Amino acid sequence: MIPLRKNIAEMAGYVPGFQPRDEQAWIKLNTNENPYPPSPKVAEAIIAELGGAGKSLRKYPDPPSAAARQAAARLCGFDPSWVIMANGSDELLNNLIRAFAAEGEEIAYVHPSYSYYATLAEIQGAKIHTFGLTEQWELVDFPERYEGKLFFLTNPNAPLGFAYPQPFIEELAGKVAGMLVIDEAYVDFADENSLELVRKYPNVIVTRTLSKSYSLAGMRLGLAIARPEVIAALDKIRDHYNIDRLAQAAALAALEDQDYLNQCVAKIRETRSWFTGELRVLEYGVIPSRGNFVFATPPGRNAKRVYDALFERKILVRYFSDPLLSHGLRITIGTREEMEKTVKALTEIG
Ligand SMILES: Cc1ncc(COP(=O)(O)O)c(C=O)c1O
Repeated sequence: MIPLRKNIAEMAGYVPGFQPRDEQAWIKLNTNENPYPPSPKVAEAIIAELGGAGKSLRKYPDPPSAAARQAAARLCGFDPSWVIMANGSDELLNNLIRAFAAEGEEIAYVHPSYSYYATLAEIQGAKIHTFGLTEQWELVDFPERYEGKLFFLTNPNAPLGFAYPQPFIEELAGKVAGMLVIDEAYVDFADENSLELVRKYPNVIVTRTLSKSYSLAGMRLGLAIARPEVIAALDKIRDHYNIDRLAQAAALAALEDQDYLNQCVAKIRETRSWFTGELRVLEYGVIPSRGNFVFATPPGRNAKRVYDALFERKILVRYFSDPLLSHGLRITIGTREEMEKTVKALTEIG
């Protein structure tokens, strides 16, 4: 037996959505990737950064990713000391737990939401508490004062897609004694965000990703906005070269091309609205979504049957066996053409 820490030996590990090898053969709607390519300026910036024969790669990247950090700060309307760039927002979630929750201390999140918080807490040996949701998307039994070290609120919620009202989130900021982390992975597809709460409440942290709205899941880029003391702590913890040269160039180019982002997001929102309508015609229950996906319940609630039938037709969606989610499917919004094919398949499946 190797002398592993007990919690590592006992934990199951996170299972990400299936990534088929023969990607081209599938309509891939299972991991909330963007169906459109990133801004053309991203590839240009990567090629420019590579230089002739990749000469620049022999040198380490800029440790703080300063150019991308400044671009993100400008965009969000904060001083760069309030922003950190990361190797995917998952890196930030991990480092937040390392920074704030010692072994045996508690973190919490809403269930259902992003279960990776639990995996990260297990690695740290932190205790995990979950708060359930009512049918009106209110938190069940949230105390007047939550004394855990961190509370993760996924807003918009994934996999369900709804967004919490801002006044509700503001109220939570006052109730959380530790840090309130608002995971805004999908916020570019929504109508509101919580940046103002970061300004107003010292315990609020917003995390974002470039994986979804910016079509850069393959580059691994995320960012956080928080008080400079929090950012300074996260800067101590991260790998000093956490973002490689090509990813830094990609981040800068993507963040600076807001026209492209806005066009892309508009197309996805339009397709989301069309697809939601079509699902309702097929008598699916659909939660109005503020993300780039919908959570849909087939008539008869046998979601696994529909998942399997779509899989046979090379359409990949996300099925969760969790009893709170097993009646539905999370379906990423692809191109209009992909969603038309999905509607056709769902009609056939019945
Ligand atoms: C709610 C939520 N947070 C964070 C992430 C991780 O994003 P990233 O690709 O930036 O690590 C995801 C990815 O699916 C997500 O759904």
